[in-house]
Amino acid sequence: MAGKGNTGPLKDARIAVFCSGNGSNFEALVKKNRRLAFPGRIVLMVVDNPGAYAIERARRLGVPVLYVDPLAYENKQEYEKTLYKELRLWKVDLILLAGFMRILSPFFVRKYKNRILNIHPSLLPSFKGASAIRDAFEYGVKVTGVTVHIVNEGVDEGPIVLQGALKVSEDDDLMSLEAKIHRLEHRIYAEAVNLVLTRSWKIVKGRKFVLCD
Ligand code: GAR
Repeated sequence: MAGKGNTGPLKDARIAVFCSGNGSNFEALVKKNRRLAFPGRIVLMVVDNPGAYAIERARRLGVPVLYVDPLAYENKQEYEKTLYKELRLWKVDLILLAGFMRILSPFFVRKYKNRILNIHPSLLPSFKGASAIRDAFEYGVKVTGVTVHIVNEGVDEGPIVLQGALKVSEDDDLMSLEAKIHRLEHRIYAEAVNLVLTRSWKIVKGRKFVLCD
């Protein structure tokens, strides 16, 4: 991923997955990584919440967990400095946010420029924020989906790597829609990581993720 213009491929990436809660995307990513759906290796899970079920999943899958308590730091930058130091020790090249409910500051995002991906459960730029599935459902959309994007200094607005869409049927309630969204996420996230790690790409005008190989 070196170089200023074009980026990738990076087939031996060391990958960290950041979680705050359930961790179903984390588990799907680890399993897909082990089935070689994308190269590199998930070497670490980072959590900001000691009660996250994601930790249990990591133990089961044998993935080391790094818990850094954000409340133990005076401010966000001190917390993120510690995170950054740890990630350097682990030689992490790529960060995958998977239900990490914390906004990373420009300080941290610049340290990992174009090397942080996030998955969001809507077709961005619609329904940004922390309750996207519910918001889309209550709005009454007929089509929704998931977005994998590069994290930039804005919130839910970095260049889009990949999106997947699905229909909301008349029979769907919030629970069934959530289940559909999660199934789609588990597929699309691995595909997006594979693109980012195996292809050459660039960001055009700060906005568009464009393949160039
Ligand atoms: C996922 O649906 C993810 O898209 C969402 O949190 C959920 C985490 O589920 N992220 C956001 O809403 C970010 N704005 P998981 O912990 O089971 O992977």
